[in-house]
Amino acid sequence: MGSGVIFRGHTPEQPPPDIADALASAASRLGSFGRHFIWFAEVTSTNDVAAMLAETGAAEGTVVSAEAQTAGRGRLGRVWISPPMAGLYVSLLLRPPVHVAQLVTIAAGAAVSEGIEAATGLNTGVKWPNDVHVSGRKVAGILAEAGTSGDGGQHVVLGFGINVMPAAYPPDIARRATSVEGELGRQVDRGAVLSECLAAFATHYECLRAHEHPQVLDAWRRRASTSLGRPVEWDANGSLHRGFAEDLDERGALLVRTDRGVERVISGEVRWI
Ligand code: BTN
Repeated sequence: MGSGVIFRGHTPEQPPPDIADALASAASRLGSFGRHFIWFAEVTSTNDVAAMLAETGAAEGTVVSAEAQTAGRGRLGRVWISPPMAGLYVSLLLRPPVHVAQLVTIAAGAAVSEGIEAATGLNTGVKWPNDVHVSGRKVAGILAEAGTSGDGGQHVVLGFGINVMPAAYPPDIARRATSVEGELGRQVDRGAVLSECLAAFATHYECLRAHEHPQVLDAWRRRASTSLGRPVEWDANGSLHRGFAEDLDERGALLVRTDRGVERVISGEVRWI
């Protein structure tokens, strides 16, 4: 653990004991995601730090996490509110081959959902592509950002944020968000949540690397029982589309049955209606 990195004046610290102990206990299940763990009290965004490390040659599997983010970001240009002692804010540095890259966010959605359940017993579902929810309210989200490293190789920074404790969100977010502890009505071990999510992702990532994509797609489908079969709408090419979410295809696109046949949704947001 630890590193000599300094990021915009912030220096890494020893992780708090609950995090360090959980990672140590799970070390044999974390694969490369247990070797280089870098913890900050506060950064702009853990994805920023991981991207900087990627560009300067850091190893695949490097994990950056912070107690708080001052500029956490979500998908589609949204803000990810990241107060201290409320959530887990984590970014993984991946250097995936092309056949793996297209499914890392699907793998991550399944892994975060599985990890939360393994650590706390809370049953969560996934909503395409990778929101993790409980009864329609979001408990975790995933942001994958691709880039090019100094040696010309491609990398992906895979960031996930989990709402562990209830926090004071602005009203528009509070309506759509929930937290693990809020759902369970008791405290949970956030270190265990982190280590179980990393262990689950390590398993799925190895499957992808070994060309065992169907296993990862099935893991996502098992978590999507409340998502698939539902009526959905989405925006594409300047118009609103509607249909019934049916399945994932082998590249992670959502297949939606519409009046015009089955359409592939490959990006953006699908809303439940
Ligand atoms: C979303 O659902 O919109 C994705 C949210 C991703 C949030 C995480 S928190 C750790 C990492 N750092 C960020 O700035 N974003 C991701």
